Amino acid sequence: MSEQVLKSEAGQHNLMDYAKTYNNFDWEEAKKAFSWYETGKVNMAYEAIDRHAETAEKKDQVALYYESPDRKESYTFDQLKKMSNQFANVLKEHGVKKGDRVFMFIPRSPEFYASFFGILKVGAVAGPLFEAFMEQAVKDRLEDSEASVLVTTPELLGRVPENELPKLEKVVLVGEKVEADGRYIDYHAEMKQASEEFDIEWVDLEDGLVLHYTSGSTGKPKGVYHVHHAMIQHYQTGKWVLDLQDDDVYWCTADPGWVTGTSYGIFAPWLNGVTNVVVGGRFSPEAWYGALDRYNVTVWYSAPTAFRKLMSAGKEEIKKHDLSSLRHIMSVGEPLNPEVIHWGMKAFDLRIHDTWWMTETGAQLICNYPTVDIRPGSMGKPIPGVTASIVDDQGNELPPNQMGNLAIKEGWPAMMRKILNRPEKYQSYFVNGWYVSGDSAYRDEDGYFWFQGRVDDVINTSGERVGPFEVESKLIEHEAVAEAGVIGKPHPERGEIVKAFISLNEGYEESDELLEDIRQFVKTGLSAHAAPREVEVSNKIPKTRSGKIMRRLLKARELGLPEGDTSTLEY
Ligand code: WTA
Repeated sequence: MSEQVLKSEAGQHNLMDYAKTYNNFDWEEAKKAFSWYETGKVNMAYEAIDRHAETAEKKDQVALYYESPDRKESYTFDQLKKMSNQFANVLKEHGVKKGDRVFMFIPRSPEFYASFFGILKVGAVAGPLFEAFMEQAVKDRLEDSEASVLVTTPELLGRVPENELPKLEKVVLVGEKVEADGRYIDYHAEMKQASEEFDIEWVDLEDGLVLHYTSGSTGKPKGVYHVHHAMIQHYQTGKWVLDLQDDDVYWCTADPGWVTGTSYGIFAPWLNGVTNVVVGGRFSPEAWYGALDRYNVTVWYSAPTAFRKLMSAGKEEIKKHDLSSLRHIMSVGEPLNPEVIHWGMKAFDLRIHDTWWMTETGAQLICNYPTVDIRPGSMGKPIPGVTASIVDDQGNELPPNQMGNLAIKEGWPAMMRKILNRPEKYQSYFVNGWYVSGDSAYRDEDGYFWFQGRVDDVINTSGERVGPFEVESKLIEHEAVAEAGVIGKPHPERGEIVKAFISLNEGYEESDELLEDIRQFVKTGLSAHAAPREVEVSNKIPKTRSGKIMRRLLKARELGLPEGDTSTLEY
């Protein structure tokens, strides 16, 4: 355990809220912050956008600053309300109804946010996809969700295997020159025609909001289904953890293809009515420090990989910018190294607050929030209303300082409500009343949680979850590859990198060109972040007698660790 403690910052008005609610907290009480708490009829789009557009103070406040290499724009709450109304009208015109799945395969842009809220306003479920996805990744998700409409760009359409997606009825194209007919809808042309008024479809708390696909260690990506009810927790964590104030300028660097980019890039800030910054384009220290400086960002949520890159870019880059507006910084996605926290203290004179949660949990659960003393290396403590513990495989709680499964008592609002089409998978997360996360951790005597690793083989590369099974499946589609085993290999900047062990089919010889071709095959078939950075040819991929690749053994060998139990091993 780290000796050093970084004392709590008072935070702003939230300290009092927090102190009042912590000991005797109840999510039912938290509902009372919303005007709908008696009727139960809600819509996230209304709470996040229209509600503010209807007040004199917020109507003309900038809701969105958008910047990419070729655009710089800003939109008020009132403008976002009207744009999303227009898109809702476009969707309704084309027959989209409550509960339909509408997917978005489009870079972060104002059009993305107008579409996103338009989708919610008709009561449909939004499915944002990373723009880096290639054909297989796009197909798996549209197929499993039975999406009826896709919003994309003419450029990205080439990666959508439309002829293999019979449920996909319409494609909205966001681009300059669009050939629209029947199936294809020209976004800009139809938006121009559409009314800025729309009667929102009021839904129930338990109705679908957003679908995020995420990777496990086996099988295809899972469709994690979230509901409008989650807004209670997005709103509250926006206050307690993000420490949002009315006049904050907030920047969450995550893409909405990842749950952080929706829960904390869209919902939490806008439910709290703050100005939100969105920066498109590629990461560079210059672009990122520049954005913090230009927009006078006050609250910043990013990831360890990005902080490590900034750290290695050195002090000179920071000195070129005025970052004095910053007052609160958070991190998520991977363990936050104490070294990075210490760098943050020097670089910004601020603590970087680690937060822990998952796609499945929908919102933050264990955090270093302003009123908590930080022990560098620890994820912090459960937020009010959340009970976390360390349990054994039967769901019995373990004493402090003992490593085990990080688990959460069921019953927080933002929890996923199902894994699409896989009810047995959903059930498998729960043991003895605990949601078992798949992470291992321990809790110290003072209630701080310390992350230790994944229990399964899921790889975390630069904060992105990569399922080894998906990568292995793609690898063996390559004509040269007979078998493949994929592991995460520790890496100083990226946390882990994807490493593949392959055996070759008869007639193929190992060569640099062949290995590069195999890497490219995964990259263009699945996505860049899933492509193995290292490929090693091995004629003995260890397997169990039932034919399962023993990734654990591959990893132990790679890292020079003891091989453990190999009784089921069969080459
Ligand atoms: C890892 C959505 C250590 C963890 C936010 C978890 C973390 C997985 C942290 C979820 C953290 C996330 N410290 N590990 N603060 N936050 N993780 O669903 O293994 O893409 O189970 O993240 O990331 O990944 P997901």
